[in-house]
Amino acid sequence: MSRLRLGVNIDHVATVRNARGGDNPDPVRAAILAASAGADGITAHLREDRRHISDDDIARLSGALNIPLNLEMAATDEMTAIALKARPHAACIVPEKREERTTEGGIDAAGQHNRLKSIVSALGAARIRVSMFIEPDKRQLDASKALGAPVVELHTGAYANAPASERAALLEKIREAAAYGEKLGLEIHAGHGLTYDNVKPVAAIPQIRELNIGHFLVGEAIFIGLEASIRRMRSLMDEARGSVGASRSDK
Ligand code: PXP
Repeated sequence: MSRLRLGVNIDHVATVRNARGGDNPDPVRAAILAASAGADGITAHLREDRRHISDDDIARLSGALNIPLNLEMAATDEMTAIALKARPHAACIVPEKREERTTEGGIDAAGQHNRLKSIVSALGAARIRVSMFIEPDKRQLDASKALGAPVVELHTGAYANAPASERAALLEKIREAAAYGEKLGLEIHAGHGLTYDNVKPVAAIPQIRELNIGHFLVGEAIFIGLEASIRRMRSLMDEARGSVGASRSDK
């Protein structure tokens, strides 16, 4: 089975920094540490209200990282202009509501084709790898394919937050979506709400190539340090994949 990449989302290092203003803790320092702990990429969400990551963080991350940066962004003209200037390796298009605490649900790729098409095309023309953050749903996969996005990220939040009695059915939806998406020729990523306790069944889905994980890793870092929290997640992913001890060159 192909090696599963881990993208570490460092937004909530910035959340803690912003609680006091000032410079500490620095999300760029966290990103560099994450890379040395085995992250394959760094994810950062520049929200329209700048509640965590700032424009300056994106500029500094672009300059400092030697692993790919995945910029999560709302489908707006402002964010598209920023992405075209920063030229991250990848851009993940997410829905954004000001009042939400975190990204609730996937983007409606099916219902917003016309608005999304020009943004996906502009990013793609700049050689930014576009992914659509969608619910694990065939209609949304078809719509992402029609938009010309090469990648989809399946929203795992419903599975992660469900009561135990509903989890198996929700996992099955992710499995089916991953298999269907791969048949369409899409690269499959997944993320949201993943923890040590719920990551393995998702990591074991063979079509999934990358997981993006943030909040839990940053929270766990309070207790065991960021490097250790990432290493443990990495090893759980490798165990699920049946590739304990796989090296980065297995990508
Ligand atoms: N993927 C996407 C598209 C997200 O918006 C988020 C949250 O910012 C994540 C992954 C990571 O989710 P979590 O912080 O719950 O691990």
